[in-house]
Amino acid sequence: MEALLIDGGRPLKGCIAISGSKNAALPILAATVAHGAQYTISRCPAITDVALAGEIIEALGGSVSRRGDTLRVDTRNVRRHAIPGSLMGRMRASVLFLGALLTRFGAAALTMPGGCPLGRRPIDLHLDAVARMGTSVVLREGSILCEAPALHGAAIELLFPSVGATENVLLTAVGCGGTVVLQNAAREPEIEDLGRFLQAMGADIAGLGTDTITIRGGAPLHGASYTVMADRIETATFLCACAGCGGDVALTGTDGKYIGPVLDALTDAGCEICRGRDTVTLRSEGRLRAVSEIATAPYPGFPTDVQAPMMAALLRARGESRFAETIFERRFAHVAQLRKFGAEIEVVGAGATVRGVEALRPALVEGTDLRGAASLVLAALQAPGESAVTGIKHLRRGYDKLEEKLRALGASICTGKNPTGNFPSDRV
Ligand code: UD1
Repeated sequence: MEALLIDGGRPLKGCIAISGSKNAALPILAATVAHGAQYTISRCPAITDVALAGEIIEALGGSVSRRGDTLRVDTRNVRRHAIPGSLMGRMRASVLFLGALLTRFGAAALTMPGGCPLGRRPIDLHLDAVARMGTSVVLREGSILCEAPALHGAAIELLFPSVGATENVLLTAVGCGGTVVLQNAAREPEIEDLGRFLQAMGADIAGLGTDTITIRGGAPLHGASYTVMADRIETATFLCACAGCGGDVALTGTDGKYIGPVLDALTDAGCEICRGRDTVTLRSEGRLRAVSEIATAPYPGFPTDVQAPMMAALLRARGESRFAETIFERRFAHVAQLRKFGAEIEVVGAGATVRGVEALRPALVEGTDLRGAASLVLAALQAPGESAVTGIKHLRRGYDKLEEKLRALGASICTGKNPTGNFPSDRV
């Protein structure tokens, strides 16, 4: 079984460029289906989730080609409104095509989306919202059949500021024959990036970045060129890597303003951080101070996607660090694996307490979700000796050129065969 082989215990030093955001690129690619045209999307990370979004566009009849980090997307020949279950099941964000298909065809046929196993992940908020804009939704034997002969304006208030539901409202509302006012919208910066892309397509949207977004539907849409924002979760992951290993890194092409609570926690832990216009630098002595409470929350709170990488950074911190996971019901799968490095972590319900240990030891571990797998890489980088991390396919979903970037920072990391082959099957 393929594994990442890591010879840990070295500080990280150097400069790397951050890639485009996975969570912005995915809804933007879905948006290209809303109107048949040609699009140029720059700074698209070369990750499997983006490739899968491309496969969905192709399955609908469009075409996608990559040159470097730029995708050329042509959706003029998209004629189908049904996404095969085999593609839907591989990624949660496949559900974002719902709104785009409704705008284009007034119809969409999907199945339940897949994605990281983080507990129950319903899509009721998406379906309720599109129903408010005039969509009839029929759930039948795992299929979701949506029809909207005439999408209309609506006042919608989300019960929870769901990122995906907010994006689906934007994608559907641009096709409405009226005004949609969305309240309690999620405010994640990736939503703003989608909104800006839709504006570049001609959409009339106000209030981006706030919890009330107003979309005047029906504006004529056209093709567009757009550059995806930097990946703030990748930025945070590399900062956590350096924080835990010690060292001095500069991350370019990214903006620390979107990860304020992450920078605050790392500063509390003893790291020196500088934010430039287009760069974030971090210096760490390696052994940090514990951080009293990190509670995940919708933006602008602490991102749930950084909970696992931050936990890895604090495994050797002096004292007890406490985490509260408030977004997903099962997002501590990495804990059992982190313990194999000698980490002391106790989980009670939605809370985890990390008692910092003096040193980690190398381990053979298995990643079972994207950010959890990243946390295992971060732990392995801190543990002197050879570790192996399997479940690489999860990392490939969201980290562009991970090994290359870590090697540029001085890490010893390569892909190879899991030395023991002792792991359970490569699940999910
Ligand atoms: C997006 C991100 C993901 C991130 C998450 C939270 C993308 C592609 N993915 O996921 O990386 O971890 O935001 O910041 O952008 N919920 C419902 N019903 C719904 C929708 C959501 O109950 O209809 C619940 C979910 O189960 C979860 C919470 O709301 O507990 C947050 O989910 P949501 O904000 O929708 O996350 P995603 O859009 O799936």
